[in-house]
Amino acid sequence: MTIPSIVARSISKTYRRGRQLITALQNVAFEVSQGELVLLIGPSGSGKTTLLNLIAALDRPDSGEILIDGLDVTGLSRSAAAGYRDERVGMIFQSYNFAPAADRSRKHSAANDSEAATEPPARPGAARNSRPG
Ligand SMILES: Nc1ncnc2c1ncn2[C@@H]1O[C@H](COP(=O)(O)OP(=O)(O)OP(=O)(O)O)[C@@H](O)[C@H]1O
Ligand SMILES: [Mg+2]
Repeated sequence: MTIPSIVARSISKTYRRGRQLITALQNVAFEVSQGELVLLIGPSGSGKTTLLNLIAALDRPDSGEILIDGLDVTGLSRSAAAGYRDERVGMIFQSYNFAPAADRSRKHSAANDSEAATEPPARPGAARNSRPG
């Protein structure tokens, strides 16, 4: 049997929006084996992005643990999390996170994307220094 490379145990995550508490994940548990292809399917708002953010250590659960090859990534420091993502995680975001940051610095709207793509940045390095959120 293949050793699981992702083990999630009792993952819970609640967001706070003003006074409202939104439980995105409640006691989620699963295992993914090395080389296994997994599709995460569910209706809008069911917590898919929340879960992926936790696996990528972009956010922390309120409780539970996520072991990646035995390493719990829920307690990593910011720099350790960045190192983990650099070495182990590939992520294509649902929304194109890079463009809005570049657009803000260049005072372009999304409608000008195609034009913006052919122009140099208004400030040298502004677009290069942007990071996906
Ligand atoms: N930063 C946040 N602040 C407050 N609530 C949030 C935040 N992010 C997500 N939520 C809420 O948590 C729940 C799960 O959202 P999530 O984005 O994980 O769902 P999803 O399955 O990825 O949805 P979609 O298919 O639309 O991408 C939703 O009710 C959402 O409104
Ligand atoms: Mg999503």
